[in-house]
Amino acid sequence: MRAGILGTGSHLPKKKLTNHDLEKMVETSDEWITTRSGIKERRIVSGETWSFLATEASKKALEMAKVEPGELDLIIGATFTADYRLPAGACLVQENLKAYKAAAFDISAACTGFIYGLVIAEKFIKDTPTTKALVIGAEVLSSVTNWKDRSTCVLFGDGAGAAVIGKVKKERGIIASCIKSDPQVWDLLCVLGGGSAYPPRNNEIPDEEYYVKMKGHEVFKYAVRHMVEVARTVIEMANISVNKIDWLIPHQANIRIINMVAQKLGIPIEKVYINLQKYGNTSAATVPIALDEAVREGAIKPGHLILLDAFGGGFTYGAVLIRW
Ligand code: ACO
Repeated sequence: MRAGILGTGSHLPKKKLTNHDLEKMVETSDEWITTRSGIKERRIVSGETWSFLATEASKKALEMAKVEPGELDLIIGATFTADYRLPAGACLVQENLKAYKAAAFDISAACTGFIYGLVIAEKFIKDTPTTKALVIGAEVLSSVTNWKDRSTCVLFGDGAGAAVIGKVKKERGIIASCIKSDPQVWDLLCVLGGGSAYPPRNNEIPDEEYYVKMKGHEVFKYAVRHMVEVARTVIEMANISVNKIDWLIPHQANIRIINMVAQKLGIPIEKVYINLQKYGNTSAATVPIALDEAVREGAIKPGHLILLDAFGGGFTYGAVLIRW
């Protein structure tokens, strides 16, 4: 028996923020952002909340899966930018969906959160095969973006993706999965303010500490190394040859990271699904949004072998190999 994805959904805010818009906000250029990151524009909330984006993505995933909200046993929200610190964002989605049978909670694994959520749901389904789980990767990164810091503000965007997970026929579903973390250099990518060390409205630290702080150059190297390592691990676990993979759906942080990961794995770039030019880095949402777009465009077909691969703050990293 295997767990697999029964349906996917995504929802993006309507408001676009282009590179040219950013040229008016910080000292940058469309040329710099495009060549360094591959991003042309991103979506930013204007009134929408995290729970709204997550609920809309979830409704679409449930519709595709033909699963009613009342059938859900588990709702997992992967995020570090939910509406409130308490309750969990997943509980607000549960209320919006009236999915009262489910247990709902959030996980904090940054950009790898959706993959962590998939792996947790898979374990529940292996334990109790009737389980129906909703895994959400959603972020309102604009709420933790320092709009005066050109080295980070050009990279991030807001959005939500979701997937319904359940038991599938044994030739389909999750074939291999691996999640890991490497905390030795956690301070290369962090938000220090707002937690219990520096609670909100704490005067001991400057305002900048309430925003994402990143040493991009160093993070880049770790991202490539760990995404390649964990992808190789699941490929070995599944005992398949890399040329059998039909689609690599990587975390969409930077086109140069994606190119290097694909090259090191020996996956041709035509088999890599890329949409970061439209949405930027939406952290936990990039993988489920890209997956949903690939499914709805018909790029992913039944029988395809899909490799999801992500990396994020913590550092966390993980990969999942799925037979569609
Ligand atoms: N516009 C113009 N110039 C800029 C900008 C900008 N927006 N930002 C930085 N620069 C300048 C820097 O000041 C520096 O100038 P200097 O040489 O005079 O000092 C120069 O550009 C080069 O800066 P680098 O940081 O070395 O540029 P790099 O080629 O590394 O690209 C980038 C930066 C895009 C951030 C890249 O390092 C990257 O994508 N890193 C990985 C980010 C990532 O993957 N994060 C993943 C997880 S995100 C999460 O978990 C939320």
